[in-house]
Amino acid sequence: MLSKVDNDLLTQTDRGTPMGEYLRRYWHPVMLAEEVPEPDCPPKRVRILGEDLVGYRDTNGDIGLIDNYCPHRRASMFFARNEECGLRCVYHGWKFDKDGNCVDMPSEPAESNFKDKVRITAYPAREYGGLIWAYLGPLELMPNLPELEWARVPADQRILSKRLQLSNYSQAVEGGIDSSHVSFLHSILEQDKQDDLAASGVTLQEFMTADKSPRFFVKDADPGLLIAARRNAGEENYYWRITQFLLPYFTMIPGTPGYPIGGHCWVPIDDENCYNYSVTWHPSRAFTEDELKFHLSGLGIHADVDDKYVPLRNKSNDYVMDRDIQRTTTFSGIRGIGEQDMAVQESMGAIVERPREHLGSSDAAVIAMRRRLIREARNLEEGIEPFAPSHSDAYKVRSAAVVLARDIPFHEGAQEELKSMP
Ligand code: FES
Ligand SMILES: [Fe+2]
Repeated sequence: MLSKVDNDLLTQTDRGTPMGEYLRRYWHPVMLAEEVPEPDCPPKRVRILGEDLVGYRDTNGDIGLIDNYCPHRRASMFFARNEECGLRCVYHGWKFDKDGNCVDMPSEPAESNFKDKVRITAYPAREYGGLIWAYLGPLELMPNLPELEWARVPADQRILSKRLQLSNYSQAVEGGIDSSHVSFLHSILEQDKQDDLAASGVTLQEFMTADKSPRFFVKDADPGLLIAARRNAGEENYYWRITQFLLPYFTMIPGTPGYPIGGHCWVPIDDENCYNYSVTWHPSRAFTEDELKFHLSGLGIHADVDDKYVPLRNKSNDYVMDRDIQRTTTFSGIRGIGEQDMAVQESMGAIVERPREHLGSSDAAVIAMRRRLIREARNLEEGIEPFAPSHSDAYKVRSAAVVLARDIPFHEGAQEELKSMP
């Protein structure tokens, strides 16, 4: 369990809070690149870390991310005209460029220099790895973008999706690193379906079914945590599922080497909502049509969503849970791994009351993740800058699922599998 004080620290991300300031040392995914597909396309609303912003692609193709509220009389810049390298507020025509300068103020006399005195808040934003990223921290500390493998592979080796989740980011991250729930929440009762999925390299293996109480080993690493769940694999071997938790909220799901790897970003919208960006990537080759179809079928981590990225199976319809299917076919009765995760994580309440939990030994990774984030935020309060944001190459890692002889430590036996492409 966590004290109320620590739970508040972990979950509150507004500017001025310890975690809010810590998170603002990192680059954050704020949109799919396809949301602003071409120069001068319609602006999009962006809400991140409790801040309301508007994102757009300007005439040159550069990304702008500015305050939602026009500094004149606070009309929303969402309604603005996207024209000639800037957004023009539709109320009185004030126009701002991507750096926040007011470049035209047609409602004031031509001789006025008022426009040189007015600015709109603007944040650096970039397109990278199929996403639009933004940096909301002190400019003099702006780091490079993290060198996550899925962001660096060619676009045809990556599947990206986005969905809204009605919960704090932290309980979502916890699901992403909690290897123990896979034997339950995502399990399938019929063996032949399980074999199908295992053949696709995405999910259950026989060992996960046979050994439902893995032992957890957590190692602190530069970019976050290396989380190993150990299950028995016959008399002489262990089956290791090694998850990467990468600060501040990236996770990588263990995958069989040679198969695609899955991962998530859990980006706080505010304290009670987050966006999940799910990614499946193949480190060495493009996806085939059949693979694309399989991964986007709504059965895996990529949820079925509407055009606003709201999941079709959601809280308001109990995730279209089917009690017959729960009796006969799957453990949860909910279609889709993403939706299954979302159902349990949202069911805890928007911000889980951690002082009321009862944690066991299989929660070791969750405990370590909370401690790490809290420690990092407290350190920053003391003036100690975090290591990870300024070491973007520390993110060149992968998750892995491997069978090793019992006497080999996981971080040695899986050393090569845990490295990403150079
Ligand atoms: S409120 Fe935007 S120009 Fe007046
Ligand atoms: Fe899950």
